[in-house]
Amino acid sequence: SGRIRIPHLQQMKERGEKWAMLTAYDMYTAAVFEQAGIPVLLVGDSASNNVFGYESSLPATVDELIPLVRAVARSARRAMVIADLPFGSYQGSPEQCFHTAVRFMKVGGAHAVKLEGGAEMVPQVEKLAAAGIPVMAHIGFTPQSEHSLGGYRVQGRGEDAARLIAAAKAFEAAGAFALLIEMVPADVAAEITGAVSIPTVGIGAGNGCDAQVLVWQDMAGLRTGRLPRFVKQYADQHGILLRAARDYAADVAAGTFPGPEHAF
Ligand code: KIV
Ligand code: NA
Repeated sequence: SGRIRIPHLQQMKERGEKWAMLTAYDMYTAAVFEQAGIPVLLVGDSASNNVFGYESSLPATVDELIPLVRAVARSARRAMVIADLPFGSYQGSPEQCFHTAVRFMKVGGAHAVKLEGGAEMVPQVEKLAAAGIPVMAHIGFTPQSEHSLGGYRVQGRGEDAARLIAAAKAFEAAGAFALLIEMVPADVAAEITGAVSIPTVGIGAGNGCDAQVLVWQDMAGLRTGRLPRFVKQYADQHGILLRAARDYAADVAAGTFPGPEHAF
């Protein structure tokens, strides 16, 4: 079957069919997730922590992320590939946002981009929409603003819910094709999902969104240690790789690898 496009996501919302999104940062994961039927792959700026080993999502640059987007876009035959615009690459002005998004699409091969923020990012979304660049707006907890938000905190509690609902509607009116809602009370995320006609993708936003997203290393258990409450681990990739590497090293130390069948 052909490429997943915006109308497919729109139809799924209208039919009430929920779908899953995952991050991907390289060709093998992209291929496996696509084989699993994941329709949308996000090359997140979470690569900052999960690929490059930085402490937060702030350090990752456009130059670092573009090769990852290229790898995923080359691998994905069917999935829609969304490139996350990193911190500092779009907040400056709609023009800066446009130039960054064009690089991710022309050089990276992305089909869409994602940016973070509230109603103050409406001019950026309008600029991209007018240029034919599909844009997903990321609202609620926005990791690139962790310092001004005072850390990893649930957003949209109490009276603050109205601010998020207004931002969601403003992004829809500005031409965003979808919303990502992070760390927002489930009832507020469900209300936003009902208030807009574009799909919503939740992370730590309860079960009322049209779709869900997780960072793949969280979903598959490659990351260890304390995990956010919203993560469910579906595998123990850390354990699988640890055992494989230990067994390999032990075989080499014992002289049992390579065996005659591996030699020329
Ligand atoms: O960068 C990322 O991976 C993300 C999400 C998981 C929402 O933005
Ligand atoms: Na991100």
